[in-house]
Amino acid sequence: MDKLIITGGKPLSGEIRISGSKNSGLPILAATLLADAPVQICNLPHLNDITTMLALLRCMGVGVTINEKMCVEVDPTTINDFTAPYELVRTMRASILVLGPILARHGVANVSFPGGCAIGSRPVDIHLRGLEAMGAEIQVDEGYIRAKSNGRLKGAHIFMDVVTVGGTENLLMAAVLAEGKTVLENAAREPEVVDLANCLVAMGADIKGIGTDTLTIHGVDRLHGCTYHVMPDRIETGTYLTAAAASRGRVMLKNTDEHILEAVLLKLTEAGASLRTGKGWIELDMKGNRPRAVNLKTAPYPAFPTDMQSQFTAMNAVAEGTGTVIETIFENRLIQVHELNRMGANIRLEGNTAIVTGVETLKGAPVMASDLRASASLVIAGMVAQGQTIVDRIYHIDRGYECIEEKLQLLGANIRRVAS
Ligand code: EPZ
Repeated sequence: MDKLIITGGKPLSGEIRISGSKNSGLPILAATLLADAPVQICNLPHLNDITTMLALLRCMGVGVTINEKMCVEVDPTTINDFTAPYELVRTMRASILVLGPILARHGVANVSFPGGCAIGSRPVDIHLRGLEAMGAEIQVDEGYIRAKSNGRLKGAHIFMDVVTVGGTENLLMAAVLAEGKTVLENAAREPEVVDLANCLVAMGADIKGIGTDTLTIHGVDRLHGCTYHVMPDRIETGTYLTAAAASRGRVMLKNTDEHILEAVLLKLTEAGASLRTGKGWIELDMKGNRPRAVNLKTAPYPAFPTDMQSQFTAMNAVAEGTGTVIETIFENRLIQVHELNRMGANIRLEGNTAIVTGVETLKGAPVMASDLRASASLVIAGMVAQGQTIVDRIYHIDRGYECIEEKLQLLGANIRRVAS
């Protein structure tokens, strides 16, 4: 298993390019299954989760070709198996996103039931109830969700009682080929949902209300091929900005979008960062100052994203003052706190709240990554700590951060990967 070895203490400084978004690339690859012709998806990040989604498409008989720029051409017309097997779903829960598209296009789908994961129980009841409201018959049998429909799915009025990104995406993809009108109420408004909707429109879908919490979809008979560029990764962007803030550094991020992480930029400003933005770039400069601790509470977009919570907890750990971090989306997403405390942080947990009192400096230690964003917080902590930090189990980080050690080296960090 690979490890990252980090010698901390240097402010990050320099310029890097942000990769395409993992969390919109995944549903967009699933959406290609809806088309009746090849679809080209560009600006995909080279990440393990994207590779897993491509493996899933291939194991269903779908044609996949990749060029050297991570532009992937998917030919969904050769599909010959409507099953997402346990072996792939257990390595990536987002495999559930093929359920809506295969069912809508082929009238049958078998998807291994995704279990919980380190950050929470993560049920999929809203995905399944919504598909049932559209006329699907669903059974759970031997660990598989077995869904079928008698002819086309039927448009329906669906109210989702929890804001769910994946649930909104699955039902949106099912609705675009359903017969008649579907209304999705209390829909997630995350930029990744918007990116997926824009891609579906480029394939010929009729969707109104994109970017709002009510999506109105008029089903069409077919979707055609298109070429679509995935949006920049807002969480990767936020992670490098927060790393720079924690290290009192300065970074220029290119190929990103300043409009999709307003809540994060606001908190960085509160932490004392000077921010400049332009079309497709963001620059952060701490002017050598220590960050100030910030209070935050995670909530669905446009509020502060749960995927940035652990990175801010790491920044607060070395900030001036005390910051309160409240996690409201996942029940177990403050797991990084124990590892940060092993590095000398002063963080007290009270239920879903972390009370973080900043210390002057952390001390390097061997630490263990437990999920993707928690790993990112340990890397940030390692970069601001005195001495050496060894981050173990970094396969988590490789699911979501393209070339992380290369990008951090470009910013001047002392970080290397070793295989053990
Ligand atoms: C997506 O997960 C992201 N993953 C997550 O990113 C992100 O943390 C999350 O949205 C929230 O923003 C991808 O896009 C691939 P949800 P998803 O359904 O869709 C509850 C990362 O680090 N819920 O919006 O699985 C659920 O338990 C990852 O990149 C139900 O109760 O999240 C949670 O409390 C991790 N029933 C809340 O909704 C359901 O049927 C939000 O989950 C579905 C969800």
